[in-house]
Amino acid sequence: MVRENHLLPSDLIAPLFLVEGSGIKSPIPSMPGQFRYSLDLLLKHCIELYDLGIPCVALFPAISDHLKTPNAKEAYNKDGLYQRAIAEIKNKLPNLMVMTDIALDPYSSDGHDGLVDAKTGEILNDETLEILGKMAMVQAQAGADILGPSDMMDGRVGYLRKILDSDNFSQVSIMSYTAKYASAFYGPFRDALNSAPKKGDKKTYQMDMSNVREALREAKLDEAEGADFLMVKPGLAYLDVIARLRDHTYLPVAAYNVSGEYSMVKAAAEKGWIDEDKIILETLMSFKRAGADVVLTYFAGQAAKLIVS
Ligand code: PBG
Repeated sequence: MVRENHLLPSDLIAPLFLVEGSGIKSPIPSMPGQFRYSLDLLLKHCIELYDLGIPCVALFPAISDHLKTPNAKEAYNKDGLYQRAIAEIKNKLPNLMVMTDIALDPYSSDGHDGLVDAKTGEILNDETLEILGKMAMVQAQAGADILGPSDMMDGRVGYLRKILDSDNFSQVSIMSYTAKYASAFYGPFRDALNSAPKKGDKKTYQMDMSNVREALREAKLDEAEGADFLMVKPGLAYLDVIARLRDHTYLPVAAYNVSGEYSMVKAAAEKGWIDEDKIILETLMSFKRAGADVVLTYFAGQAAKLIVS
């Protein structure tokens, strides 16, 4: 009766990995229980998640190396794997929301979220915005409901909002990766997509783990630029940032329970050192308690089953 927070399947977004082909469900070694799905099997999995009450999936493409280039042009191929997947899911399951990823890393031979200056190695912020804009358009045209800029370029939320609104896509939402920290917790995700940076790190565009005021500044900017949701990523080591954002905005706040957080639980559970089911529910409740409205988590399907049972 006096419980303050509740965890429901409808709070959860399931991130899913997609690969070209058919009949493929290829395990990701560093993320036990997670797979790269070809579109046919991805659809089946989406139906399962939808039936469990998960309202939204977030898609990430594993692109084959021969399509990766310095200018990441596969990112806005309207017939590319990613766009076909969005359209197909919306066609089969119109009520399941599809959230996308906007960043160059899956398509970039440099493995960076932005374009890299070949001479200096610097990330080219404004030149990258143009490509992100093209990605937003093809994703919106394919039927995406929520666009997720995870690239951390400055000014991208406003840039994308303007492009969408000028082309009749004012109803497409933007979930900004507002406070995305340069984090070692993304390691298993980069294994899944083979997308680790070839040189350097992401510290010139992702946030310094020591900062929290900067997250509030990023939140103000994103809000002014038209974001519909603000996200904190990673989640567990940054619960204080979620709580601070909750106090500073009336927008929905999302938490990303990232790959490394997932893999640590799975590894300890495999060794029999922790009670996996209880740890999952306790972890997800911590995000709700900190003030998140929505949680992106690789545990989405598993948690939904635990909540229902
Ligand atoms: C890259 C991106 C990353 C994740 C989501 N989008 C990795 C990175 O920034 O290197 C990480 C998600 C996870 O670890 O679960 N645009």
